[in-house]
Amino acid sequence: MKKILLLNGPNLNRLGKRQPEIYGTDTLESIEQHLTSVAEKQGFTLSAFQSNHEGELIDALHRSEDEQYAGVIFNPAAYTHSSIALRDAVASISVPVTEIHLSNIHARETFRHQSMIAAEAIGQIAGFGVYGYEMALNALINYVKENHHA
Ligand code: DQA
Repeated sequence: MKKILLLNGPNLNRLGKRQPEIYGTDTLESIEQHLTSVAEKQGFTLSAFQSNHEGELIDALHRSEDEQYAGVIFNPAAYTHSSIALRDAVASISVPVTEIHLSNIHARETFRHQSMIAAEAIGQIAGFGVYGYEMALNALINYVKENHHA
């Protein structure tokens, strides 16, 4: 079965209690469970990994290629705006990566407007809350099918 990796960066383990007025009240665990079932209905398995550490996120991106994942859904969180190392990691793999943000980063503080990752991702979804994860999954699956990566 084709595999999708759901990768979440720093502080997203606190979803549900972290600034709910911005990020909503759903927990990361509930998002992971929901996406797993949506992926399965479309014939994909989904593995989820969250880390607060840049190097662990880089390692997970590298592993996604080594372990032949069909695609990655990635919320790099605050590293979006600062991490050239994560951008390089996305560029270093042939696995397609979809960038996702719960909030509309372009409508927030100016330091959030820039994404280091976006130019190396196949696309970016931002501002649709938890539903954005489902949009990212569907967009990625469609991309994988169209590009015969699956
Ligand atoms: C975020 C947006 C980032 O600016 C922020 O640092 C996060 C979450 C989002 O999902 O909206 O941690 O990636």
